[in-house]
Amino acid sequence: MKLASLKPAISSVLSQASLDTSTKMTRVCEVLREQVPYYDWVGFYFANESARTLHLKAFAGIPTDHTVIPFGKGICGQVAESNANFVVPDVKAQDNYIACSITVKSEIVIPLFKDGKNIGQIDIDSNTIDPFSSEDERFLEWVNQQVAEIL
Ligand code: SME
Repeated sequence: MKLASLKPAISSVLSQASLDTSTKMTRVCEVLREQVPYYDWVGFYFANESARTLHLKAFAGIPTDHTVIPFGKGICGQVAESNANFVVPDVKAQDNYIACSITVKSEIVIPLFKDGKNIGQIDIDSNTIDPFSSEDERFLEWVNQQVAEIL
């Protein structure tokens, strides 16, 4: 499937005046999880700069215990500090990784910038090994730009 074909559905969710921000973000997670076969858990974390922690604000998939993640810890915490995309083809190869489910084999985390500042991230877990390509990175960067517009 072409990920770009999902752009109209994402734009539609984000432009619905009747939905609050939290609901829009949850719907975006649901659209991504339902439409992309290898997206098994999709969530948005946002930073508390003074506490240096990430907080889960919206997700689709199995509930996780990891709703608060310190900067520097796990893939998510590393992206909070690096401001860079982090694609993990095989989570077993990572030392600094927080396991949410034993079924997860790979992960992608893309920082979300608002006015040039890294304020959070989209985190996607996959039960498939090595499924992510540059197409996922470009598409998820676009998703984050759209979400930043409503924050
Ligand atoms: N695996 C992540 C933690 C978040 S769960 O995937 C939902 C990490 O290592 O940061």
